[in-house]
Amino acid sequence: MADRPFILGVSGSPHAQGTVQELLGLVLSGASKAGAETKIVNLYALDIVHEKGFYSEDPQKAIPENMPPDGITALYPEIVRADGIVLATPVYWANMSGIMKDFIDHLTPLENKDFALEGKVAAFIAASKENEGGVEMAAMSMVAALGQMGVLIPPNAILWYPGAWVNAENMVSSWAQIDAPKVGRNMVQLIELLRKHPIFWSS
Ligand SMILES: Cc1cc2nc3c(=O)[nH]c(=O)nc-3n(C[C@H](O)[C@H](O)[C@H](O)COP(=O)(O)O)c2cc1C
Repeated sequence: MADRPFILGVSGSPHAQGTVQELLGLVLSGASKAGAETKIVNLYALDIVHEKGFYSEDPQKAIPENMPPDGITALYPEIVRADGIVLATPVYWANMSGIMKDFIDHLTPLENKDFALEGKVAAFIAASKENEGGVEMAAMSMVAALGQMGVLIPPNAILWYPGAWVNAENMVSSWAQIDAPKVGRNMVQLIELLRKHPIFWSS
């Protein structure tokens, strides 16, 4: 029997009880209920060395073995093993948090060496409880990078959540909280479908 789908959640928030963590937990609980193995990595708990720009100097140098070892390179085996990945960030100045950007930059050698992210299923969470603007840009910046790396995004899996948001009818809307567990479930469904009908994207 095949292994359970493995979905890795990556949090770029420093707050263990915050909105970002809440939504990430809801996505992963939906995935877990649908049969997945899940794990959350909190980037703030890791020692991180900034990306050194090897790709810009010589793409041949931008391979996992050449990266200065840090908390993110230590995660490479789990990132490669993951069938799905959920990136979750607070909105910091109309974009993702700096530590999430560090994480994405560290994916460069995985993408550069053998397109290791290609065909993985991905979901994205950007949240701001104050609703001061930029939540869409934060979400779509992550989507732009991971899209270039070849991930697949199931329906409704780009969650941007301006916190205590009031809709046109003056009703508090919490679509993100309602959608989040379904997103996790749908990631598992897509992963299982792809296992039954593998697609060789690059060949
Ligand atoms: C450095 C910094 C920049 C921020 N920039 C924005 C912003 O541009 N737009 C916004 O709506 N909220 C902004 N916020 C508020 C956070 O997005 C908000 O508090 C978020 O809910 C934090 O989520 P968390 O508690 O789950 O980490 C900023 C907060 C910090 C610390």
